[in-house]
Amino acid sequence: MACILLIGKNGQLGWELHRTLATLGELMAVDYPEIDLEHPETGRDLIRQIRPQMIVNAAAYTAVDQAETEQERAWKINAIAPGLLAEEAQRLNAVFVHYSTDYVFDGKKGTPYIEDDIPNPLNFYGRSKLEGERLVQEAGGVFLILRTSWVYSLRQKGGFVGKVLQWSRQQETLRMVADQVSNPTWARMLAEMTTQILARGEDYIHERAGLYHLAGSGFASRFEWAQLILELDPHRQEQTVKVIFPALTSDFPTPAQRPLFSALDCSRFGNSFHLVLPSWQKALRLAVD
Ligand SMILES: NC(=O)c1ccc[n+]([C@@H]2O[C@H](COP(=O)([O-])OP(=O)(O)OC[C@H]3O[C@@H](n4cnc5c(N)ncnc54)[C@H](OP(=O)(O)O)[C@@H]3O)[C@@H](O)[C@H]2O)c1
Repeated sequence: MACILLIGKNGQLGWELHRTLATLGELMAVDYPEIDLEHPETGRDLIRQIRPQMIVNAAAYTAVDQAETEQERAWKINAIAPGLLAEEAQRLNAVFVHYSTDYVFDGKKGTPYIEDDIPNPLNFYGRSKLEGERLVQEAGGVFLILRTSWVYSLRQKGGFVGKVLQWSRQQETLRMVADQVSNPTWARMLAEMTTQILARGEDYIHERAGLYHLAGSGFASRFEWAQLILELDPHRQEQTVKVIFPALTSDFPTPAQRPLFSALDCSRFGNSFHLVLPSWQKALRLAVD
């Protein structure tokens, strides 16, 4: 029976992983403040103590705008810590699973990005995550880096889905950005896919270790995503919103610049692991049901 360490159990993805990974073996799940990746040695000490066969790192500094001013913290959590955790995994010959982001790309390609496309992050969060990828790879162990995008969970009230539902009950009109496009990704789907791969065992993963894009199938603008959220809302009668207008990213200036078209092509993942990624619309339907 595998011993698995999950780091970041309270996040959107970590919460789901805590439930799905429990079926695989002896699971130890931790989060801040038991472990503080701003001080990565706390992670290293824990790994040395429990000697897991698999380490799943769902923790990250995810405040994209705040990262512009809290650069040192974001760098330690998103770049230095994953590198150090991956080194420890390598020493134990353990599998290291790590998540990265579509924000490693500049969004200028115009078609969905594949793993071999050259990253060029536009913001500090993206730069810190890209360096995390590099350090995990450099550690030389058995790793899966899963780049994902626009992760949502119905549990997180401050996330995009929660905010759209909240605004729909407070306002008569909504303006949603229509020129940012990517793959809305349900955290549960991401956790289930990760768990299905890990269930196949360490030898299977050794043969397929590497970088993969893993996100909701297809892509949408934030405007289209919001439209479907409102349509699928099971309590539609509570909505006060009458009309939703498309807007431009430039209408809502933010400290961090975001890529405009950062959709991920996930074919390599599907072909390597023989798993079918549900369309983002289907996943959203299941999530709100
Ligand atoms: N959310 C997205 O749209 C998105 C898009 C692309 C990629 N990703 C990637 O997907 C992964 C999961 O994201 P998510 O949406 O689940 O993130 P999330 O909800 O923000 O969760 C991140 C977790 O990391 C923990 N954490 C933060 N600072 C920490 C520290 N110093 N030490 C230990 N733990 C710390 C957080 O704890 P606290 O809550 O206590 O701070 C939280 O439990 C991340 O690698 C992220 O970069 C996310």
